[in-house]
Amino acid sequence: MNQQSSIWLPEAASTIAGDVDALFYFILITSIILFVGVISTMVYFAWRYRRRSDADRPEPVYENKLVEASWVVFPTILVAVVFIWGFKVFLEQGIPPPNSYEINVTARKWSWTFTYPNGVVSADLHVPTNQPVKLRMTSEDVIHSFFVPAFRVKADVLNGRYSYVWFESPKQDTFIVACTEYCGTSHSDMYSRVIVQSQDEFDQWLSDNMDDGTLTPAERGQRLYTQQGCFACHSLDGSVAAGPTFLGLAGSVRNFTDGTSAEADDNYLRTSIVNPMLQIVEGYPPVMPGQYAATLSVDDIDALVAFIKEY
Ligand code: CUA
Repeated sequence: MNQQSSIWLPEAASTIAGDVDALFYFILITSIILFVGVISTMVYFAWRYRRRSDADRPEPVYENKLVEASWVVFPTILVAVVFIWGFKVFLEQGIPPPNSYEINVTARKWSWTFTYPNGVVSADLHVPTNQPVKLRMTSEDVIHSFFVPAFRVKADVLNGRYSYVWFESPKQDTFIVACTEYCGTSHSDMYSRVIVQSQDEFDQWLSDNMDDGTLTPAERGQRLYTQQGCFACHSLDGSVAAGPTFLGLAGSVRNFTDGTSAEADDNYLRTSIVNPMLQIVEGYPPVMPGQYAATLSVDDIDALVAFIKEY
């Protein structure tokens, strides 16, 4: 099958994408043939056997065993072909090869993070080329759905259990990850990227991003900003998202929806992380999750405050 994107499908960049597309085109083309066949026969018959005068009466029609048998047998074969073919592709998609490289995926409102076997956490999914990759996915809150159109893989990501997808990409390039389950305010911004690299580049990237224990608090904060998915709602460059940007936040005066205001000092920053519903900044919806008091350590919060103050 065609590897380039077309009007029908995005580019095909995984080992199973060709099989999925072939089945898709088979169903599409047989549907078109049947549709055109049925409709044109219907139109032709309506015209051919129209009533020409009041005396015009149709001749009685008797059974034709061959025609009747064919419209039982032919559709049965057709759906059996689609079922068997579809089931084969489904199994192929569902069963990761035993030598798969495993990466954990965490979804939350409204970001994805990827955790590698050596502890590196990133906001983009880096994978080596020509290597089966198995994703073990879970959600911190509601149901999301992990979808890489170019790889033709998609699975719901649930809270409290794991779901899986696997793929192998022969193509060094960058592809889109989308969330395809409506999950609230910023669902439509819940994108990430898959970066397919050579094995060497991938290994280099993995070792470059290892935490060697020598980070400053602000550097640790930067890591947490990625790991915890803060970037989904809080930009660093002033651009607008579901939450206030971190640019120029520390030290500024914040106006709240209850009419009060406060200066964004260390205590304000800390409170905003651990008790986000206490003071809602004007112009923003009250949507920040409240679990950070339980999931972040005192050191983590110190690190995030130090990081925010750098912007
Ligand atoms: Cu997550 Cu839609």
